[in-house]
This record gives sequence, C-alpha cells and structure tokens, in this order.
Amino acid sequence: MIDDLSSFTAAALAAAERAHTTDELHQLELIHLGKEGPLLAARKALGSLPAEQRKDAGQALNSAREQVETAFAARRGELESAERAAQFEFERLDLTEVVDYSPVGHAHIVTQAWEELEDVFLGMGFRVAEGPEVETDWHNFDALNIPKGHPARDGFDTIYVDYGPRDEDGRSNTVLRTHTSPVQIRTMLTQEPPIYVIAPGRVFRRDTADATHMPVFHQIEGLVVDRHISLADLAGTIEAFTTAYFGEGFSSRLRPNHFPFTEPSAEFDIQRPDGSWLELGGCGMVHPNVLRAGGIDPEEWSGFAFGFGIDRLALMKFGVDDLRDLFTNDIRFLSQF
Ligand code: DAH
Repeated sequence: MIDDLSSFTAAALAAAERAHTTDELHQLELIHLGKEGPLLAARKALGSLPAEQRKDAGQALNSAREQVETAFAARRGELESAERAAQFEFERLDLTEVVDYSPVGHAHIVTQAWEELEDVFLGMGFRVAEGPEVETDWHNFDALNIPKGHPARDGFDTIYVDYGPRDEDGRSNTVLRTHTSPVQIRTMLTQEPPIYVIAPGRVFRRDTADATHMPVFHQIEGLVVDRHISLADLAGTIEAFTTAYFGEGFSSRLRPNHFPFTEPSAEFDIQRPDGSWLELGGCGMVHPNVLRAGGIDPEEWSGFAFGFGIDRLALMKFGVDDLRDLFTNDIRFLSQF
C-alpha cells in the first residue's frame, strides 16, 4: 500500500505540471500511472488488507488515480494545442510577402518603338493590319505595280524561299517579304473601304549586316483608302503623326521621289528642334493599278500610303549609332534603356 497517498498525488500532479512536451508528459505518465507505478502496486496490495479497510482504501486509490489522470489529460490538451500552434507558425506561408525572385526586364527598344507607333496611329483612328512574312511574289511585287522585269524588283535584295513554281530565271514565286507594302494588298482584298490601317512587321533582305543594314528589320506601313483623299490629307497625316510621336517642335516635309506603287510619290523627312533633318520614309498617293489589284475601283476611291523603318526610329530616339547593337542581345547594352 502507499504509505502516503496524498504525497503520491502531489508528486504526480507536480510532474504533470512540469512536463514541457507531450513526449515528456508521456514518460512521466508511465512512471506515475504505468504498470510499474506506485498506484498499480498499491492496488495489488489491496488484497492483503483486512476486509474492513479494503473498501475505504480502494476508494481512496480510485479517487487519487482519477485526480492524477484528469491532471495528465488536461496537461496533454494544453501541450498538444501549444505544439500544434508552433507547427502552424513554422509552416505558415505569408502570401502577401513580396519576394524578389529574379530581376524584371523590359521590352526591347524596337518593341517599345513599335508599340508607341501603334498607340499614336490608333489614337489617330487607324487600325492594325497584319500579313504573312513568307509572301507570294505577286503580293510583294506584281500587285504593287512592280511586274517581272521591272527594274525596281532588282533594287530589292530579295530572299527567295524554295517553294512554288519557278520563273524562267529559276526563281521561285515565294519570297520573304522585302517590305510591309504587301499588307496593303491583303487589306484591300479583305476589307471594304473606307480603310485606315497601319501594318508594323518584320521584313527581310539579302543584306550584309553593318551599322545601317540588317538582313531582318522592321517597317511600319500605312494605308488609307476613302472618297476624296488628296495629297493634302497625306501631308496632314504625316505632320500630325510627327508631333504626336516626336513631340512639339518637330515638323515634317515631303520631297518628290519615285515609287512604283504610288503616284505621285514622295520621301518624307522629320525636322528636329535644332533644325537638322532626318529622312524617315516613303509615301504617296496609291497608284490606280495598286487599287485595282486590291479589287478597288480607282474611279470611286482614292488613297495614300506610307512606309518607314522602325529600327532607325529606335536608334534615333535612344541615341544608338550601330543597328547591329539592337540584335546582338547583349544584356549590358539592352539594360541601359
Ligand atoms: N515599301 C517601301 C520600301 O520598303 C517604302 C514605302 C514607300 C512604302 C512608299 C509606301 C510608300 O507605302 O507609299 O522601301
């Protein structure tokens, strides 16, 4: 029998209170309430007590055990919830935390120029048109009033694709488009006038890369077809574009030139605030043959077109003087802008 049941109880309750972890509590529970513990030993010893003492002693043992068991259960509850809370805290993910996983880049300066041009022309009421980079020589040349044998064809250093029938010179009828002008034809063939579109895109020429030439570069084309369109509308549009894109203090001029797809044709220049001039592109009134190739009656409709290089614009805007720098993808160069 336990000599002093109350000191046993006090020791067991203190042990439960002392435990800092559920594991520790479990070990202490085995010591105080387990098979080898004093309570069980005392219970075994009950049988040897005189009968008149057995009942009281048994009740005292039971209530002591209940008291200790309750204390351990309560402590277990406390320790378990504390451990769960600690685990949650450890595993917590702060979804509002801002983490810098990698440096953020920016659009390439050609892309920036391309998108700004789109913004300016969209603001002027134009829509964006598209055409394929691999073109038929009909869309790229014939429909633009440059038939086979026309000297202007040789002026373009055309890259031919090994696809489709050959002409007598052995050249296929499929090319990488040498300019964005074939999009004029594709637009006229699929849309009814009035037409107000721009067509930015990649173009290709058999050129050796140097400071001012690349075999792949970018142009933007403009086409307007409506009733009563005149050269004054063309000049006004170029001027409005110039101030919208370059800013106040910039102006434009047209200089007579020749292109097969426009008549009359002009080159347009931009004047910087310091008075210097930049040759930007070509333009003119759409040639009647070109309107007809696009399925449009030149007696009823007239229009103007323009086209210029996007890369040169980006060079000028960002003060870069070698076109090749735009395409070598050197991060030290690109990250300056
Ligand atoms: N397609 C010409 C080129 O690549 C540029 C051009 C000139 C486009 C006059 C036009 C235009 O639309 O009217 O050099």
